[in-house]
Amino acid sequence: MAVELTQNGDCAVITLNRPEALNALSFQILRDIGAAIDEVATRKDVRALLFTGAGDKAFCAGADIKELRNRSLVDQKRGAELGQSVFAKLDTLPVASVALVNGYAFGGGLELALACSFRLASVNAKFGLPEVKLGLIPGYGGTQRLPRIVGESRALEMILTGKTVDAAAAEQMGLVNAVVEGDIVAAGLKFAAGFTGYSLPVLELARRAVQRAGDLSLAEGLRVEADLSTLAYCTADAEEGMAAFQEKRKAEFKDG
Ligand code: CAA
Repeated sequence: MAVELTQNGDCAVITLNRPEALNALSFQILRDIGAAIDEVATRKDVRALLFTGAGDKAFCAGADIKELRNRSLVDQKRGAELGQSVFAKLDTLPVASVALVNGYAFGGGLELALACSFRLASVNAKFGLPEVKLGLIPGYGGTQRLPRIVGESRALEMILTGKTVDAAAAEQMGLVNAVVEGDIVAAGLKFAAGFTGYSLPVLELARRAVQRAGDLSLAEGLRVEADLSTLAYCTADAEEGMAAFQEKRKAEFKDG
């Protein structure tokens, strides 16, 4: 299977498993990623989703270039919409997602990582949007998500030059949350453990509020925050969290 879904404790792990093509995204693989994300959304015992790539060379080298040639414009547009809609599933997934970038994350591979809530990089990770070298521009969300994460100027530099950014530079520009040594899946599980113990509905409200920051004015965003923070306050977990503080004990959240 070119897309494998496994579970490690309370973390689902989606592995892109096509190392002979550096885990390039065929249209079938995109559809399989979409199905795997849908499956994760149904699992009540999953509290985070990790993505990784099989092999030691690549997270994902982007869209399968061999599939891209000689397509009608209609098919090309549908392909971009497919990639965009599959990656957008991560926005509405009830749990946060972490891209574990172990090697190349180019083109659509970087766009998948950008759609995740967080990104960790191995020391040998390399990031780029090299579409311009193919006479193309990013089509799976890169022109929209990259500037929201690293700012317009840095995003434009990557998109217009197609240059490769190494792990240290990616960390410096805020493209990744951290660079990790050793087993990146183990690092991803540890990173996820930093939030999976909290109330899932409250985590989801926090993600919703932050997501809106990218497309609302400050005044509108503050109104959204007031509404969503009030919703968080209404949960039983908020009552439990505040009671636990006052009673000087560890909170026991029940996702309610
Ligand atoms: N599509 C299809 N096959 C790919 C691929 C891709 N994106 N990237 C690598 N492969 C294949 C290669 O063709 C090769 O297979 P064959 O030997 O059968 O030809 C195999 O993977 C190994 O690749 P290389 O021999 O090229 O490995 P390398 O270490 O010399 O180079 C690399 C690694 C720099 C990542 C290079 O493979 C490369 O530049 N790949 C293309 C990256 C790219 O341009 N990505 C953007 C794609 S377009 C896109 O993603 C649009 C979008 O927005 C959705």
